[in-house]
Amino acid sequence: MTAVAPDRRLDELTGLRFPEGFRWGAATASYQIEGAATEDGRTPSIWDTYARTPGKVFQGHSGDVACDHYHRYRDDVALMKQLGLGTYRFSVAWPRIKPDGSGPVNARGLDFYDRLVDELLDNGIDPMVTLYHWDLPQVLEDRGGWTNRDTAYYLADLAAATIGRLGDRVRTWTTLNEPWCSAFLGYGSGDHAPGRTDPVAALSAVHHLLLGHGLSVQALRAGGAREVSLTLNLACVRPDDPNDPHDLAAVRHIDGLHNRIFLDSTLRGGYPQDMLALFGRFGVDELILAGDSDVIASPIDLLGVNFYQPSRVRAGVGVDCGPANPGSEGCEYVQQDLPVTAMGWPVDASALYELLMRLATDYPGTPMMITENGAAYDDVLDGGRVADADRIGFLDGHLRAVHAALSEGADMRGYLAWSLLDNYEWAYGYGKRFGIVHVDYDTQRRTPKDSARWFAGVIGRNGLG
Ligand code: NOJ
Repeated sequence: MTAVAPDRRLDELTGLRFPEGFRWGAATASYQIEGAATEDGRTPSIWDTYARTPGKVFQGHSGDVACDHYHRYRDDVALMKQLGLGTYRFSVAWPRIKPDGSGPVNARGLDFYDRLVDELLDNGIDPMVTLYHWDLPQVLEDRGGWTNRDTAYYLADLAAATIGRLGDRVRTWTTLNEPWCSAFLGYGSGDHAPGRTDPVAALSAVHHLLLGHGLSVQALRAGGAREVSLTLNLACVRPDDPNDPHDLAAVRHIDGLHNRIFLDSTLRGGYPQDMLALFGRFGVDELILAGDSDVIASPIDLLGVNFYQPSRVRAGVGVDCGPANPGSEGCEYVQQDLPVTAMGWPVDASALYELLMRLATDYPGTPMMITENGAAYDDVLDGGRVADADRIGFLDGHLRAVHAALSEGADMRGYLAWSLLDNYEWAYGYGKRFGIVHVDYDTQRRTPKDSARWFAGVIGRNGLG
């Protein structure tokens, strides 16, 4: 890891330009924006079920209507064009395309994405499709969800069906979005759908998600995909005391769970030893069959990095990092003395710089793209304007970090803001706003925030300052 004083050097950088061809855009996900939950043959996903389970989601909010993007996609694409976005990352809803999870394709479900892709291309915007952004068909969860190996094969079927319809126009494909969240929040802590709280299920989900990724990479290649990627939420995990070997061991465990379990298996050909030992400790090693490692390591062309906040951990007796972190006895998260967003997440762009340099060093040869970065703040719509200076500061700081990493050799290909629109923030419902465009959920009126105008300027100049 390169040791620099990122804060100072970031402050000194002004007037930054990004390389020609750097991809700028924004991201969303199906369940968070589409609505139209029962239209055109869509069946319930695990999030429909979870949202209806009392006490799980803020004020019982669901994605039934969300941003009504399913009906307003033309206006939303017009907005993207107005902002100058070159790339739009969205996900397809599995229960629209395969309503019974594994069976026949529902043509009406694919029709929507077909229309969306055409609209994007007509407006000069490059579509980037994510196959799985957390809305597993409930029928598959009823058969064990990601703890069932079959689900991995069904994801590859979804990949084949989707590229079969959209592959002539979509260049960039992403298999999974943040499998850490699907596995550890979905099956470990229960903070996400399907809300299970079992470390064995969480680790089993990790393996089957990764297997599904590898099988989907193969299906996408067979379907002629030009660029295949995986998006991970990677963490910059720092020790409370860098001179304390116990704190460093705590860092290693959390780093293993958040980063290396996904990175080594996909980019280095196998799980790291300590994570294999963890699988063994929970009896999950038996699920890893001969040949799985090779499938999981099927080469990808681009690594998507989602980044929001730094983490700090230390060792301690009688503590742990919670049920989202199996085997973390003796480690705990430490509160950081940093400004926070409306999510309570600490803000420190130097952690993104550090993470990208680490990735460039430890996993060379894979181009990278920031596929999500952004922040929730308590925005106020006043007189038709949202003055979100905090969000602009957040984005500006993180873009400077990306530029600093780029100028030191990290192979950064693009930056996508999370999110285009305020939307359904999972267990926080509509209570947290991440958009650069404000959404009034009563009227569905969209209002670009100051950050959207600022971002449009960044895109127009291909740089900052
Ligand atoms: C990452 C997820 O991919 C996205 O769905 C979520 O809304 C953002 N993080 C913000 O929490």
